[in-house]
Order: sequence, then C-alpha cells, then structure tokens
Amino acid sequence: MSNKPIGIFDSGLGGLTAINEIKRLMPNEDYIYFGDTARIPYGTRSKEVIKKYSMQDCRFLISKNVKAILVACGTVSSNALDLLQNSFSLPIVGVIEGAAKKAATIAEKDNGIVAVLGTDATVASCAFKNAVEKINPSLKVIQKSCPMFVPLVENGYTGRHDIAANAIANEYLSEIAPYRPAAVILGCTHYPLLADIISNYLPDSALISSGSEAAAVLKETLMEKGLLSEKGNGTTTFYTSDDPLLFARNAKRFLGKDISDNIYKIDIENY
Ligand code: DGL
Repeated sequence: MSNKPIGIFDSGLGGLTAINEIKRLMPNEDYIYFGDTARIPYGTRSKEVIKKYSMQDCRFLISKNVKAILVACGTVSSNALDLLQNSFSLPIVGVIEGAAKKAATIAEKDNGIVAVLGTDATVASCAFKNAVEKINPSLKVIQKSCPMFVPLVENGYTGRHDIAANAIANEYLSEIAPYRPAAVILGCTHYPLLADIISNYLPDSALISSGSEAAAVLKETLMEKGLLSEKGNGTTTFYTSDDPLLFARNAKRFLGKDISDNIYKIDIENY
C-alpha cells in the first residue's frame, strides 16, 4: 500500500478524459495532473521531441513524489513509452494496451474491422495497430490521422452540430466510413470530446476512449505492485506550463467543474 499520489500527464487537456474513469475505479487515491499546454500539440512533432518532452513531464511528476504515472496521451504512449519505462523505476502505464484489448474483443464478435484515429505521430508509429494485430492477427486494422481534431477540442469546437468540426470530421472520416469498422479506437485522448461528431459519420461503430480504457490497466498494475491506497480522497492537483486560468476555463468542459483554485503554473523546461 502507498499513499503517495498518482501522476497523470498529457500535452494538454486530453488526459482529463481518463480522469472520471480512473476516479471511479480508484476513489481512494490522490492525483497530480500535468497538462503541457505551452508545448501542445505533441502529435505533429518528431519522435525525438516527443521523447524529450515526455521525459521532462515524467521528471516533473516524479519531483512531486508520485508512486506511478499514467501517460494519458496517445502520442507519447505510441512513441516514447519504452523509453520512459526504461528510464524510471516507478510503474508507467500508457493508453495502448487497454484500448487494443477492448477493440479486439468487440471486433472479434462483429465484422473483424478496427479503425484507429490518432495524431500524425501516433498513426506513423502503428502502435495501436500492432497491439490489436498482436492480440488477433486475423483482425483488419485501418488507421487515419486526424491532426485538426486536437485544436478543435482545445478551442471548444465540440458541439454535435458545430459546422467547423463537422466539416473536418467529414473530411477525415468519409474515407473510413465505407469499411463500417466494428470498433474505433480514439487513439488520442482529446478525441472523446468529439465523440458526438465522430458518431455522426460512424454511427454503427463502438467508439473506444483510450484514456478511459487505461484506467483498468493502471489499477491492475498498482494492485500487482501492492501500491493501491485506501487513504486518499480522490483529490486532483493540476499543473500546467501555460496560463492556469485559461487551462481552468477549458478544463471545465472536460470535468464539468471549476478547478481555478487548484491549478498551478510550472516551467517545464526546468525539468
Ligand atoms: N492527447 C494527445 C494524444 O493523445 C494530444 C496530441 C497532441 O498534443 O497533438 O495524442
């Protein structure tokens, strides 16, 4: 048992899509969330830069004495998870394994087709595709990078009937729709905020939130290592590398509550 907090990070707000499920599964933990809003997006950057940024993100969380880290970012999970796991001694969990398992289970019972939506860097890595095919090589996995989805979410263009969001979704998803994928992995943790819009174009597909699916993997890992806590209160302290009030305002859409008295700015370049 350990009463230290759990660290969670993303390039921005996307990782917040994991938090509700994490807290539901582990209500007696405390959390530290870091959103690197000064350097978002990660998904259009090179592997080298993604590695550098994510090493700094982990060092910052470790400086806050966390007992484990959830990489609540598809881009980092796809491109730097091995590096992070090999560089630090605490448990570090990504968002690929849980989503791949869920997608495979759904697709196996249906038409065997899985689609992966993610950032450029995530799709280029083929990490979700490889993970699904490793579970069941007979499944067909198609991928599509949707880089404009992240700025839409960060700027609040998420309503089901939003014209800009629908135009972009149509552009990306009309290529995927004819395959009628049984399961669609939202391989970027920002994308669940666009689930209503994505469903407009893929109405028959089960949408899988990679952040939410990672919650169970995180819990299992903590259990295995004897690190689950019984004494936390489910509190989350937020840190950002850019304007905290802007972060709090945008986070309200993800969390449904105001966090402005519980968010702090840090200089991530110091880590
Ligand atoms: N939430 C990140 C991900 O899951 C957003 C990517 C970005 O910063 O471009 O990939």
